[in-house]
Amino acid sequence: MNEPVTPYSVHLLKIAQLGHPCLRAGVQAVSQEDLSTPQVHRLIDQMVDTMRDVDGVGIAAPQVFINKAIIAIELTSKNPRYPGHGAVPLTIIINPVIESHSDSTADDWEGCLSVPGIRGLVPRWDSLVVSGLDLDGRSVRLNVEGFFARIIQHEVDHLNGNLYLDRMESFKTLTFLKEFDLYWKQHS
Ligand code: NI
Repeated sequence: MNEPVTPYSVHLLKIAQLGHPCLRAGVQAVSQEDLSTPQVHRLIDQMVDTMRDVDGVGIAAPQVFINKAIIAIELTSKNPRYPGHGAVPLTIIINPVIESHSDSTADDWEGCLSVPGIRGLVPRWDSLVVSGLDLDGRSVRLNVEGFFARIIQHEVDHLNGNLYLDRMESFKTLTFLKEFDLYWKQHS
């Protein structure tokens, strides 16, 4: 029997579910002093492990019961929940702020780890500029578009106590995943 070649070091966090007040409470900014502590880096590592474990494409600190302005995003080509979108490298943004955005919007399907099992069509800006800090406390500024821009908007919403459900123009497209696969997938 083969032994694992690397130590087992995944740290999973519980994910807050729809209805928990922490998802609606908003966050506080992370100070440079906070960002230099091992605790914050450990939290970010755990957020990334948790996101990957459940095939998420993004996670925000309130989803793990932490009221800090931290988001993590990653989309690999192997992600079974969101096939057909371009890959997004692991991106951590502390204190993200959407500086500007396109006038144009597009509809696409979104789900949320805090609202498991359902999807809905959500309008989002096509492109945006987001600024914030990286893991080392340096300023970052990203110009993103398409699905990457969509995930940024979804995760920044979490920091402000908003969920994608709040952004839907109509609940007529709200669907469980089984029904999504049966009736909606071919149109997505
Ligand atoms: Ni979410």
